[in-house]
Amino acid sequence: MPDSNHTRRLFGLTVRQNAHPDMRRLRREAGEPSLHGNKFWKSSCLTMDYLKRHPLKPGARVLDLGCGWGLGGIFCAKQFAARVTGLDADPSVFPFVHYHAELNGVTVQTWRCRYERVTGDDLARYDAIIGTDICFWDKLEAPLYNLTRRALKAGVGCVVLADPGRSPFRRLAERAEDKLGAEYREWTVKQPMKATGCLMIAGQAGG
Ligand SMILES: C[S@@+](CC[C@H](N)C(=O)[O-])C[C@H]1O[C@@H](n2cnc3c(N)ncnc32)[C@H](O)[C@@H]1O
Repeated sequence: MPDSNHTRRLFGLTVRQNAHPDMRRLRREAGEPSLHGNKFWKSSCLTMDYLKRHPLKPGARVLDLGCGWGLGGIFCAKQFAARVTGLDADPSVFPFVHYHAELNGVTVQTWRCRYERVTGDDLARYDAIIGTDICFWDKLEAPLYNLTRRALKAGVGCVVLADPGRSPFRRLAERAEDKLGAEYREWTVKQPMKATGCLMIAGQAGG
């Protein structure tokens, strides 16, 4: 994964780094994301590696929670021809999502919403839900646990959340393992960049 021109190649995607002139321009135009959606977070590699080994069904409808730059969803659109919606509370991330989607030859819908406000009816429209590095504050644990529970009840095939291993995420994953039959496991990626953390997988792999 050599870096050249502030650009990375990973899991078949082209990803700009923050210093790339286009990212500087988007920050000037859209403003600086305020809830940590200000870069590609490397736990996305955990999500992509897991999904490479446990593919979604072709054309799956995917909701990418707390999408930030949206690389997890863009990976699903490219690999599985998934129909992807990137959800985020902070709309200033969306220009970065659309930029990277176009760079990688796919389209992604965006939806400004908070986890707490996503209803069961909303969730019933998706086959799979993904989310990377989204449970980073104590106060995010309950909304994301509740969303996972609502999603399974609404018939979503699988919920795959990845995290570098922060304590709110670990508590969420332990609770989901105990109460929702989710799988909670450590995960390591060595290539194209080293990333370690954990995954919570609720429902059936493949969505
Ligand atoms: C650490 S970033 C991770 C971004 C992306 N998933 C990645 O792995 O690169 C967390 C994202 O969650 C979003 N977020 C934080 N709290 C949220 C909430 N309550 N509802 C929806 N999105 C939220 C932030 O705006 C940010 O884009």
